[in-house]
Amino acid sequence: MEAGKTLLGVDTQASLEAVLGQAKAQSACDVVVASGDIVHEGTPAVYQRFLHTVKRFFDVPLLCLPGNHDVLANMHDARLPMQAITLGPWLIAPLDSHVDNEPSAYIASDDLLELTQAINASDAEFLLLATHHPMVEIGAPWLDKDRILRVDELTNAIAATPGATLCGTIFGHAHQEIEATSNYGPLLGSPSTCFQFAPKSEKFSLDDKAPGYRWLFLAADGCITTKLERLTTHSFKPTMN
Ligand SMILES: [Fe+2]
Repeated sequence: MEAGKTLLGVDTQASLEAVLGQAKAQSACDVVVASGDIVHEGTPAVYQRFLHTVKRFFDVPLLCLPGNHDVLANMHDARLPMQAITLGPWLIAPLDSHVDNEPSAYIASDDLLELTQAINASDAEFLLLATHHPMVEIGAPWLDKDRILRVDELTNAIAATPGATLCGTIFGHAHQEIEATSNYGPLLGSPSTCFQFAPKSEKFSLDDKAPGYRWLFLAADGCITTKLERLTTHSFKPTMN
């Protein structure tokens, strides 16, 4: 979005800055992960503004995932960082689940190869996987139809890759809080930094909850703990109709 423009009544640049500001006031962090659908109009200039905005608040390694509203070539042109990050014994690694302008998840063999190569190349003990789409049904049919499918096959292949042990997965896309479990650790979805989707909705439905973010604490023994936060002052309610 151009600066000052709104999407469903929300100034998404302002809500992003409010989220980053509240998070910074709470705590420092080591890494920021942006879980996709980073912009609505994916021009290189808007991606550059996103990058500068994040760096103003957190000058730490950043991992950006492409979502279905993103334009991957323009993310590359804007030099958004999209590579795996090593943090102590952890590897935080992306798996591209997106296709430009196509809502459904799709994981190309090259995308999986890129992930397994990153795992192979790392000395890390533990893997935190980051995708855009959920790997789990969330009870909202209009979102569930686009989730990552054949999850067992996928996660078994990742887990069988020599190197870091898969300990959990984080994702975006669903614009709501999701905490599920799997054979390979927690599956954690984050709220959006702009408007939220209504949980368990049959079709596209907005929620008036505040924009939010998720803290992740990656322990030295491979455990993940997490805390979800929302803006304490909520002035970014979307146009509900
Ligand atoms: Fe998405």
